[in-house]
Amino acid sequence: MELKKNKEYIVKIIDNGYEGEGIAKIENKTIFIPNAIDGETVKIKIVKDLKNHAFGKITEILEPSNKRVEAECKTNRQCGGCQLRHIEYDETLEIKKKIVENCFKKELLRDIKVEKTIGMGFPYYYRNKLQYPVGIDNNQNTVMGVFSERTHHIVPTKECYIQNQTAQKIADSIYQFLLEHHISGYDEEKGIGIVRHIVIRVGIYSKEVMIILVVKQEQLPKQKELVQYLKEKYPEIKTIVKNINSKNTNVILGEKEEILWGDGYIYDTLGDYKFKISPKSFYQINPVQTEVLYHIAIEYAKLTRKETVFDLYCGIGTIGIFASSFAKKIYGIEVVEDAIKDAKENAKNNHIDNIEFYVGEVENIFPELVEKQKIEPDVVFLDPPRKGSDEKTLQTLLTIRPKKIIYISCNPATLARDLKKIEKQYEIKKVQPVDMFPYTKHVECVSLLCLK
Ligand SMILES: C[S@@+](CC[C@H](N)C(=O)[O-])C[C@H]1O[C@@H](n2cnc3c(N)ncnc32)[C@H](O)[C@@H]1O
Repeated sequence: MELKKNKEYIVKIIDNGYEGEGIAKIENKTIFIPNAIDGETVKIKIVKDLKNHAFGKITEILEPSNKRVEAECKTNRQCGGCQLRHIEYDETLEIKKKIVENCFKKELLRDIKVEKTIGMGFPYYYRNKLQYPVGIDNNQNTVMGVFSERTHHIVPTKECYIQNQTAQKIADSIYQFLLEHHISGYDEEKGIGIVRHIVIRVGIYSKEVMIILVVKQEQLPKQKELVQYLKEKYPEIKTIVKNINSKNTNVILGEKEEILWGDGYIYDTLGDYKFKISPKSFYQINPVQTEVLYHIAIEYAKLTRKETVFDLYCGIGTIGIFASSFAKKIYGIEVVEDAIKDAKENAKNNHIDNIEFYVGEVENIFPELVEKQKIEPDVVFLDPPRKGSDEKTLQTLLTIRPKKIIYISCNPATLARDLKKIEKQYEIKKVQPVDMFPYTKHVECVSLLCLK
């Protein structure tokens, strides 16, 4: 059925989809409607019509859901970072559980039991990493904020309810400094300008702050003055790094770095351990929920100090270090060189001597350790990026058949896809969603897979 663009329809929302959006049907055609909630009746305008589905925009909410709340954020609609901000928090947890269930159903064509999503006690200001683009608006003014969803249009932020508050204050001070000294933001289209991004990482527990100024070229006007100003105003800043990114790319950080002040890294603690974090190293963005996540992962592994364990996609070694006192030996593999340097130091600083780290791609290093060095894991922790794991790694797992695989995933679609490939040999025992990213559409899962 063809739907007319801009034509209005009244529809009943029958579900919430993978992106948290509402789903309705018009004569069997599926319509995706952002900001709509299951059970609501809404008037929509069709904004895009495709062969099998269409996209609508709410023009009026006729019968609101009793789960609908007023979003406290002023820029929520333009920003789109918190897709579930208009829904009661407990309901967002239900929606996330359903998103995971639906991903499994789509891939495995059957129902998999998914536990209740573990929510966060205070689901605000949880992000320990702020990344604000600095650009040029239509009036040639320098602006700082967040990219509006799926665009590179910068929405100036007033107050972000998921960012760390100290980081927001510092970002605003840097922005005011840039304005005062006429230091321009970066014009992506023309490839000109000076400051591209302000990145701030905060140790939520240590309170240490790292500033990364991402610039187009090495020359940053008033650099000394900016460093001095920040140091004096915010004693919690432990280091300031300049990162040079001259490429025409969406990747935020460039290769080259210069430490302008301090050591070039910060520390934070997670559980009983202290972790060193460098600008390029991955570190979970919600440390409160990370502890919850890791405890479940370790609990699922049921280690008895006799096991050989692999921590694949190990970042700065956090999971392996958490598991180290329960296992005989741990091997961590990670592709980012700086992260492995951090991981080695983290093991040393935490007095852990039963862990080894390897830098390189899991798909290459993992089979190499198994085949050449004859290291056979009993348990494997697998924590890949959003795109999931790969054929070669999954094939290696199927060949060596560890007793348990604990798959930690921030993308239920690729999780389900990967588990489908190994489910002949592995029973999916548990799937536990954890709300690492409150009010956004994202959901993290820990899954326990046992050799059949
Ligand atoms: C979701 S993070 C998990 C990191 C760590 N386990 C943690 O909890 O902090 C995924 C990690 O995989 C790394 N990575 C991505 N592709 C990789 C690959 N092919 N081989 C090894 N590491 C990879 C990334 O650099 C990142 O550190």
